[in-house]
This record gives sequence, C-alpha cells and structure tokens, in this order.
Amino acid sequence: MAVRDVHVLGSPVLRQRAEEVSGVDDALRTLIDDMFDTMAAFSGVGLAANQVGIARRVAVVNAEGQTITMINPRIVEADGRDVKEEGCLSIPEVYGEVTRPERVVLEALDEDGAPYRLDAGGLVARAIQHEIDHLDGILFIDHLSPMKRQLLVSRWKKEHKGEALTRTPTPEETEEDE
Ligand code: NI
Repeated sequence: MAVRDVHVLGSPVLRQRAEEVSGVDDALRTLIDDMFDTMAAFSGVGLAANQVGIARRVAVVNAEGQTITMINPRIVEADGRDVKEEGCLSIPEVYGEVTRPERVVLEALDEDGAPYRLDAGGLVARAIQHEIDHLDGILFIDHLSPMKRQLLVSRWKKEHKGEALTRTPTPEETEEDE
C-alpha cells in the first residue's frame, strides 16, 4: 500500500496515449492497490494510471458506493446526454461543465484479468468516461469551449508557475475531482 504522487497539467504523461495491458500480474495489482490508496488520499472519485506517471491502460473509480477496476477499458454503448461540473486531481482548483453521454456500457478486465461488462449511469458513468479519456491523453478541459479552456489554463499556469509537475495529498481536497 502506497500513495503515489499525482502528475499535474504540464506533465507530458497526461497527454500520452496509454498502452494496452497484455497480462495482469502482481506488479500490475500493486499498481492498482496504490492507485486506490492514492485516489483515497486525494478524496478523488477516479484515477487513471497516467496520473501516477504510468502510461498503461488501467484506471480506478470510487463513486456512489461503487469501486471499479478497469484494465483495457472500452465503452461499447453510450446514450443520453448530461451536463455536469467536473474537476480533475491533475488540474487542482479548476472546474468546468462537461457534456457527456448519461449512460454507458463498459467492457474491461478486472484485477484478475477476467473480462466483465458494466452498465453505468450518473456519476459512475461520468467518472468512467473521464478516466478513459485520461488513458487517451484527453483532459476534461478539452471538452470545454476553446475560449473557456484557454482562460482556465492560462490562469492555472500563472498561479502554478515554477511548481513541480507532481503533487502530494493535502487535506483540503474536494470529493468531486477525478
Ligand atoms: Ni482526471
């Protein structure tokens, strides 16, 4: 069990397309355990491996009482439309309204390498989509209008100029960040 540092905006790994996982082994399970610890330490509802500096297709979610491990996740069905404010552990203090399908069907492998299918709605569906985006190098700010994104990013960069590209947990984390 270990809490890992979380990479923040500006760290190249967040813009990398993560690699498929070819086999689930103990090293990968250790990574997953650490990701759950890290997500809890930051009070997050989701975390992708890119965010702890590892570009492999692994992500975790803890939302609405549901904990999900996703290895090589894929959305196979999506419908509806839902607009909600999102945040991200990798872009602290930045929030924006993101439109996404309201319901998704996920296919992934669990921590034993077994395939499963999950029908999700609400915050769980949103977190799943947000985390899969991370694995494709996409951040929630990419879903905002170019003007809004530019404003948020330039302000954030100004406020965090010269700071490290990783962060450790602080007590004031909110519960809405992914
Ligand atoms: Ni995020």
